[in-house]
Amino acid sequence: MANDLHTVFDETLYPYINKGLDGVVAFSTTKSSIDGQNGELIYTGYNIDVLAEKSTFEEVCFLLWNDRLPTQNELDDLTHKFQARRDIPKVVLDYLHSVDKESKPMSVLRTATSMLSETDIHLPDDSYYEKAINITAKLPTIIAAFSRLRSGKEIVQPKITGSTAFNFLYMLNGEEPGIQAEKTLDLCLILHAEHGMNASTFTCRTVGGTLSDLYSAITAAIGTLKGPLHGGANTAVMQMLMELEEQGKDANAVAFTKDKLAKKEKIMGFGHRVYKTFDPRARHLQKMAQSLSEETGHEELYRWSMDMLNTMKSEKNIDPNVDFFSATVYFSMGIQPDLYTCIFTMSRIAGWAGHYMEQMEHNRLVRPRALYVGEKNMDYAPIEER
Ligand code: CMC
Repeated sequence: MANDLHTVFDETLYPYINKGLDGVVAFSTTKSSIDGQNGELIYTGYNIDVLAEKSTFEEVCFLLWNDRLPTQNELDDLTHKFQARRDIPKVVLDYLHSVDKESKPMSVLRTATSMLSETDIHLPDDSYYEKAINITAKLPTIIAAFSRLRSGKEIVQPKITGSTAFNFLYMLNGEEPGIQAEKTLDLCLILHAEHGMNASTFTCRTVGGTLSDLYSAITAAIGTLKGPLHGGANTAVMQMLMELEEQGKDANAVAFTKDKLAKKEKIMGFGHRVYKTFDPRARHLQKMAQSLSEETGHEELYRWSMDMLNTMKSEKNIDPNVDFFSATVYFSMGIQPDLYTCIFTMSRIAGWAGHYMEQMEHNRLVRPRALYVGEKNMDYAPIEER
């Protein structure tokens, strides 16, 4: 089929474009499987619901990088490596101190991740696994450090103990989180770790496909995740909820949603290219959003969310995706809205790195075609005659 296409392809005649690569299967993978009709997500053989109940983010990293669950010794070894490599190099610290504090955290994270490659110049090019550990260990430190610096606070050094979730909250807030907060964030990290051939993972594999390095692939993936149609949607959801907050606790989220739809605006946190039913990750986040918004006295956030959900269902038959309830979860944990996509990043590194390693095992350059729709054979007019 590929060869047939190759021989008959003519950029001027080819009649069909899969806009947005909708339905195109570009790679095979063992990392995850999405059943969009039944709302099922599997990471390397394990249903997300099982992992949500029984696993940890560290274990999910091992799973996605080795295609199997770790033994206790293997998990301890990976956890110790994450803990030992949390420090960020001086070049990144200097950048975080000097960068404009009004900068968007995702932009800062993207640039800092690119700079991290300098720490690995002693490692062979093909040490993807070690490099993946390094990046995963350091992303939370970068995010927390920038968050504190922009608020005029001292950076909190990472601890060499504890989980990724525990340590991130500790560095962000300057105090150790309770077990509940740690578990909540850990669950969020599990739920965001991997998700098929989404835009950022495709970017990551495309960069890897040129045999470029892991840092370049992850930097490009972060730039892709940042967009509001992808990972940036969680921050955009919170902006919507803040718009409602400005109208007071009695704000009418049904009218708000209908008004936006009437203006042909997208309701952030809803819709998905693959899921045509409730995103299974959103179910877990919904439960967390409900209990956390009650605990923190922000019941209105959950009430508005449910009003929006019901309105989207009745008006458009569109369900929420992972980003919708995660906004309320992070807000209830006291995290600033523009950091939400950074948290997505410090989780999705697990999936990106797994896909990069997979691409390296079965690499072929990613190089699709484009249908040329411009003019041809134009007369070249001298500049003074144009
Ligand atoms: N609000 C209102 N209408 C929507 C929405 C939405 N959130 N999502 C889809 N639709 C409508 C869309 O207007 C279109 O209607 P029509 O056929 O009448 O023009 C129809 O549903 C199909 O939508 P589409 O945009 O062509 O679908 P897509 O597969 O190209 O886009 C999407 C998927 C996720 C970009 C889109 O649903 C969207 O923009 N959602 C809001 C942003 C968002 O929440 N993004 C996070 C995605 S999940 C997490 C992640 O991967 O990062």
